[in-house]
Amino acid sequence: MSEPVHVSVIGIGCGSPDHLTLQAIRALGQLDAVLLTDKRSGEDPLVHVREQIVAEHAAQARSVVVHDPPRERRADHVGDQASYEQAVSVWHQARATAFAEVLATHVGRRVGFLVWGDPAFYDSTLRILEQVRSTGLGLTIDTIPGISAIQLLAARHGLVLNEIGTSITVTTGRRLADEVARGTDNILVMLNRTLDAASIEGDWQIWWGGNLGTEHESLLAGDLRENTPQIEVERDRLRTTAGWVMDLYLLRRTGPGHSP
Ligand SMILES: C[S@@+](CC[C@H](N)C(=O)[O-])C[C@H]1O[C@@H](n2cnc3c(N)ncnc32)[C@H](O)[C@@H]1O
Repeated sequence: MSEPVHVSVIGIGCGSPDHLTLQAIRALGQLDAVLLTDKRSGEDPLVHVREQIVAEHAAQARSVVVHDPPRERRADHVGDQASYEQAVSVWHQARATAFAEVLATHVGRRVGFLVWGDPAFYDSTLRILEQVRSTGLGLTIDTIPGISAIQLLAARHGLVLNEIGTSITVTTGRRLADEVARGTDNILVMLNRTLDAASIEGDWQIWWGGNLGTEHESLLAGDLRENTPQIEVERDRLRTTAGWVMDLYLLRRTGPGHSP
């Protein structure tokens, strides 16, 4: 059996170089190559953030840019969970093929994947690497945790995400309406698109953050309905000034029995 490829999946935080951990910096210094996934054919600002990290902490490593296979997005907006999962699965398979091609040329070497935030939250790198492994290519995989947008949101607002002895539900903008309908009352939402407050019944407090950890960082908090128009204004502003927008928010039901 040939030597495996050694893979380090490194959480890099969400945009601030200050949020790299010492463990991540050590791991970056040991890489032979870094595999960067470009979603916008050379214009991906998140690749530039990663390139800066590589230049500073992994200058010895070769950068290999893989163009992200196209993804069918229609099922994100319309369609049921099954068609959404099918579209994601096709995309993951294409990514696994692209990753496998690069990894196969690095037997015995250490290759790094720089994952936004922490690899455990809404990131499929680890899943895709398991798919690569199932093709028979030998891989060892180390995961190095990073600071997630979830932690940044809490820190920026000085929040404890759970109320005493209760739960936090972490979900996506796509699934928010379902969570509200089933009575969940402390919901952290990632992968936001537009926040449709009209579809969220009841009274809610929101703590919102956009492009956290970057020079463009934006924060808003207060009553959901009062803040929604300004959140959309801020999302547009970030898209223009930073060239990208990523945001998340905590929603907490208020009113009788739900005092924040
Ligand atoms: C594909 S998920 C990746 C999450 C990442 N693995 C983490 O641990 O934060 C992307 C989502 O994370 C959130 N996010 C990531 N970076 C962010 C940032 N700098 N500011 C606000 N939200 C961010 C947004 O909800 C975005 O849609």
